[in-house]
Amino acid sequence: MINKIATLGGYIHEYQKSVANPQDFWSQIAESFYWRKKWDRVLEWDFKEPEIKWFINGKLNITENIFERHQFTRGDQPAIIWEPNNPKDDNRTLTYFELFTEVKKFANVLLGLGIKKGDRIAIYMPMVPELAISMLACARIGAIHSVVFAGFSANSLADRINDAEAKLVLTSDGGFRGSKITPIKEIVDEALESCTTVESVVMVQRTHTKVNVKDGRDFWWHDLMNYASDNNKAEEMDAEDMLFILYTSGSTDKPKGIVHTIGGYMVYSAYSFKNVFQYSDGDIYFCSADIGWITGHSYIVYGPLLCGATSLMFEGIPTYPDAGRYWDIVDKYKVNQFYTAPTAIRSLIALGQEFVENRKMDSLKVLGTVGEPINEEAWHWYHDHVGGNKCPIVDTWWQTETGGIAISPLAGIIPTKPSFATLPLPGIQPIIVDAEGKELPGKSVEGNLCIKYPWPGILRTVYKDHARFKKTYFSSYEGLYFTGDGVKRDEDGYYRILGRVDDVINVSGHRMGTAEVENAINEHPLVNESAVVGYPHPIKGQGIYAYVVCGELSAGGEPGITDSIKKGVTKIIGPIAKPDKILLVDSLPKTRSGKIMRRILRKIAEGDYDNFGDISTLLDTSVVEQIVERAQNKAQN
Ligand code: WTA
Repeated sequence: MINKIATLGGYIHEYQKSVANPQDFWSQIAESFYWRKKWDRVLEWDFKEPEIKWFINGKLNITENIFERHQFTRGDQPAIIWEPNNPKDDNRTLTYFELFTEVKKFANVLLGLGIKKGDRIAIYMPMVPELAISMLACARIGAIHSVVFAGFSANSLADRINDAEAKLVLTSDGGFRGSKITPIKEIVDEALESCTTVESVVMVQRTHTKVNVKDGRDFWWHDLMNYASDNNKAEEMDAEDMLFILYTSGSTDKPKGIVHTIGGYMVYSAYSFKNVFQYSDGDIYFCSADIGWITGHSYIVYGPLLCGATSLMFEGIPTYPDAGRYWDIVDKYKVNQFYTAPTAIRSLIALGQEFVENRKMDSLKVLGTVGEPINEEAWHWYHDHVGGNKCPIVDTWWQTETGGIAISPLAGIIPTKPSFATLPLPGIQPIIVDAEGKELPGKSVEGNLCIKYPWPGILRTVYKDHARFKKTYFSSYEGLYFTGDGVKRDEDGYYRILGRVDDVINVSGHRMGTAEVENAINEHPLVNESAVVGYPHPIKGQGIYAYVVCGELSAGGEPGITDSIKKGVTKIIGPIAKPDKILLVDSLPKTRSGKIMRRILRKIAEGDYDNFGDISTLLDTSVVEQIVERAQNKAQN
């Protein structure tokens, strides 16, 4: 078992050990797992190349570390507690033994469908236990899963299936979310019209929505499981074999397939889970994220299950049947650790105090947040009204790319400070640099956040595009991993994340590339060009503000055009990318070399119409005046 750090002194000691000799540090932690064959060398790395390998030639299967390792001690313990969308429906609990049985059976189903080690499998499912079973069954046979958030459009799903060249899609007939039913299989059918690699589709029956079943291609989960044996030996994998691909937005181009490999991800997700949340045996841990994002991968499925924890998985939304749903779940299951996003907290604050006031929530010991900076007001509300003034808040900073939490308090051990992610986890060596890449040492500095030494959970590549991996993360500052975030270190050495410094915006904790949204807007037949920026939004953190040039239509502000642009973006990417505000303009502010000056557009979107700084490189300054006038008019109306 992984030992938990128990005191501040213990943290300082472990941190120093992890910097003085990272290889010994991680090898001791890795030894608490079950390896079929131990590694020859702990680490090989080069951030210039870049190349990173952990636990070289180690052989293992991550599911043996979840199941076989726990089966004699935890067979009867709940592994997953599943709370359905409708609180009146039956919930489900899968003990480690039961989950293991399902995983082995589904692993055999996958083998029966001709899936082999190394094949890619797309998973597009609502939050049902079969989603976790699917991921673990893939890992069991050495197939690589690529989970796609079930709120993405058919078009986004098709892009991801095609990039990964997936052979199989695991999905469901439909999905419940609040009072709505999403026709999941219909979206899959639409996506598959432009996918050539997919041979089969397996559907979980969840909503009993009528679906189209294509003979020879589409199968029902329950039919296949009926005949599956529960006898399955895990495939032997190399520590550096791929565990999964997860697509995430960047500042340019299409989403990138972030690649995580088995050994390092296993060690890091489990180590960070146990220490940040200070999980103790018997605790009930609830992370409200969707498994379609990295938070769900690392902190609903892998991290908790590797630690033998009980992980609560929730199908629904925080406001159904009312805005007290999370707190009802906390009371129903006596949840001890609760992990959510600041945007959820802000939206619940806006819906009123009464929803927290009539719930007990006295089982809570630790609260967590992730995905975006948490503002002080939300922090205090969470601390006082949800945590009853007694639960430490872990403000966890990390990324799809880091695999696990990188900067965060350890609950109850590192003193917290509202809006600060505080200190790095052992093994993480942050460094703050200025625009030229010069290190800004000492306290009270502000700059760009980089990490100078590898940790086991770091991404290994961008799927099928190592050049993009290098360019995105390792070429801004030589020899450093660049996070894309701005950061401040205060007089206590605490880190406060300031947000993205690239063209990525963070909408309700979801990463959105501005270029991606612009491309979707530009598909509209009446649009000539567009520029998208983020602006401060009271609930979402950042909202999407689009400046759109529509030829002759822009002057008249054609009613309905903004609506059809929004619909278009929803169709192409998904509802999370829908612009909050659209301003029709005649042209965009460009430099003489043709680059859009987003700095100005950001200011205008914030409602600041004067402080544009140096605009001498603009080709035509009257463009800015026109845009300001439009924006002011619109703000008044
Ligand atoms: C942002 C989510 C401030 C940050 C796990 C990062 C945060 C991006 C925090 C990664 C936090 C994440 N405070 N900002 N505690 N956590 N971020 O890949 O900008 O979806 O780069 O991973 O979210 O988003 P991703």
